[in-house]
Amino acid sequence: MQIVVGEASGFCGGVKQAVKLAKDTAKKYGIAYTYGALIHNQLVIDQLETENIFVAEDITELHGKPIIIRSHGVSKAVETKLKSSDNIIIDATCAYVKNIHNKVAEYSAKGYHIVVLGKATHPEVQGIVGWCNHCTVVPNSKAINIPNQYEKYLVLAQTTFSVVEYELCKEKIENLLKINAKTVEFFNSICYTTLCRQSSAEKVAKECQAVYVIGDKSSSNTNKLFQVACQFNKSVYFITDVTDVKSEHINNITKLGILAGASTPEGLIMEVINIMDQEIKVDAVAEATVIPTEATAEVAVSTETVKPVKTEESMSMAEGLKKYGVKSYREGMKLKATIIKVEQTGVSVALDGLGKNDSGFIDKEEMELDGSYNPDNYKINDQVDVIIIPKTDAKNKAVNLSKKAFDSIKIEDEAVKKILQGEEFTLACNQAIKGGLLGKLGTYTIFVPAGQIKIGYVKNLEEYVGKKLRLRILPPKEEVVVEGQEAPKHRPNPKRIVASQKVILEEEKTAREEAFWEVMQINNIIKGKVKRFTPFGAFVSIMNFDCLAHISDLSWTKIADPSEVLELNKTYEFVVIKVDREAGKVSLGYKQLQKRPYELAAEKYHVGDIIKGKVERIKDFGAFVEIEKGIDGLVHVSEITHSWTKNASEVLNVGDEIEAKIIGFENNKITLSIKALQEAPVVEEVKESSSEKSGMSKSESFANRASRADASRGDRKGGKSARRENSDEPREWVTSASSGATFADIFKDFDMDKFDSEEESK
Ligand code: F3S
Repeated sequence: MQIVVGEASGFCGGVKQAVKLAKDTAKKYGIAYTYGALIHNQLVIDQLETENIFVAEDITELHGKPIIIRSHGVSKAVETKLKSSDNIIIDATCAYVKNIHNKVAEYSAKGYHIVVLGKATHPEVQGIVGWCNHCTVVPNSKAINIPNQYEKYLVLAQTTFSVVEYELCKEKIENLLKINAKTVEFFNSICYTTLCRQSSAEKVAKECQAVYVIGDKSSSNTNKLFQVACQFNKSVYFITDVTDVKSEHINNITKLGILAGASTPEGLIMEVINIMDQEIKVDAVAEATVIPTEATAEVAVSTETVKPVKTEESMSMAEGLKKYGVKSYREGMKLKATIIKVEQTGVSVALDGLGKNDSGFIDKEEMELDGSYNPDNYKINDQVDVIIIPKTDAKNKAVNLSKKAFDSIKIEDEAVKKILQGEEFTLACNQAIKGGLLGKLGTYTIFVPAGQIKIGYVKNLEEYVGKKLRLRILPPKEEVVVEGQEAPKHRPNPKRIVASQKVILEEEKTAREEAFWEVMQINNIIKGKVKRFTPFGAFVSIMNFDCLAHISDLSWTKIADPSEVLELNKTYEFVVIKVDREAGKVSLGYKQLQKRPYELAAEKYHVGDIIKGKVERIKDFGAFVEIEKGIDGLVHVSEITHSWTKNASEVLNVGDEIEAKIIGFENNKITLSIKALQEAPVVEEVKESSSEKSGMSKSESFANRASRADASRGDRKGGKSARRENSDEPREWVTSASSGATFADIFKDFDMDKFDSEEESK
């Protein structure tokens, strides 16, 4: 198949100059901003981003930063605003456009009404309008609507306006205004390269069986080329990147035309040719020339018509690639190679299609992915796929090649197929740019926006460069179409994947939350690690969620600090006692899984045991003795001494350390006796014991004493009922106290815990 490339395909002089200025500026200042997209090609904009050149629509927050005015130019008002700001302004307005600005300003000053042929929404036209006092924009020959009130008119066109349409408009406007005896001047401001491209497009479309128009669909001049080609050829395809190249377009044709707009990078033209060469062998690349001289942005605006078509020059594939490539041997270029020599140190190859003198060398380290190069596995005339890698020795003329890199990219590109379907992947990004991270996967560029790196704000993007991220492709953003306006023409770059780690982390978080709430059912017992203490409890980590164990739920006894019960970073079992999913709160209990103090006491202490303890509280009816933390026993007043004791405080003081015998342990209550450890006083038998005098037994005498004591209390407090109302004594104690009765009997209905808490609240 033969390929014919339209003349002046690829970047025009104005675009080249703007791109160069942007790159130089970014190198000098570390970053550069373009006032609006530098050119209408998303591939180029993406590439520029990797070189720290970003598009800015609003400069209010870019104080002191370098701003590039793109080749389309800006209105007078915008230029004044930019130049009076504190920014460094670099003016990359194309010389053709600048010429138009000067022209309309000059004619406006002379009172001319300006008629601009072009698209009113195109930035170049908006800029031109901003240099006129009054003007009308005419989109095409079918929509000419010019006000009649002016005497003098200047008619000119957007630099990329259709040549054919210009002539039609000119004729109609001339007729319209001259009838009314107006002064009309025409200024053909269509730029030289546009004239050349459109003329060449017609030629290419006529002579080829099919035509590829390469460029971005948002590019005005590329669209014009497409329209021109469609007038003369039925098989015209708009190619925005290599994935648009389809074998069915080119399978049965012998001559294919290629046209490219002024904003199409030459590298893309070359890649398209390369891809076709891989699909179908390209025999030759030719350029369809229409004018002999090279266009430059510096030349004055031509008012000449297009010169006659020059004869086609045939070129070899190598010459073609050299002409349309940024470099003939560009690093990263994929090529087919034929082995011409196999050595222990590597393989020498001839580069297919690049001329017989073009050879390359694949070092043994660059042969196999696993490093297992074996010369015996290769023979002369074998074909291998390779990629051009940087030269290690500048003097060596052979192109440095890597088969391994090609294989690796192939594998990664295979993996991308699954990634595009939503499969998770891992990648370490190698660059931080404004707004996110960039990484490479095969031939794809992966962009991770800053807001998609993690859940939460990323302060320093650099920290994530080189770190492995778990990523998943983000669906493309839906374009917002405003009613009555044209749908945006932006088409996402198919070789650029926008990915997110945050979506994965969020999904996992949601799954963890679900699992957590599943487990957090009241009364469930679960293990948790103590993370931190507060005065009101301990925070316990369960499945990475913090739950609170309130201090009152840590111990059956009163504690002042959670650390009395728990240790930091230690794992314990807790019981779920409260769950509030809406508020995201879970309350845990620890004490509920521990034995109550009296359960412990029951295991440890028995009736008859002698214990040591400390008097904690004293009441009229006896003293509470702390046997150990949380375990109290009661010594009734009658069990303190063998002698009559009216009030426990007569004998005991708070804080006294005493020894006592357990005489009762029932219903979680321990009753103690001090006197049980004391020798009972000797009773003189023949003495004038009142009991004997009265004929009472010993027990009758004790009961009598108790009865007297009872009576005495009754007298003192105003009788039995008054005593019950005011006394701290349990009723049973008062009524049941008798010799030989245990205190367990006495307190059988007495709630010690309730009593304690009432005491504390007093
Ligand atoms: Fe390019 Fe300037 Fe013409 S930017 S298309 S040379 S007007």
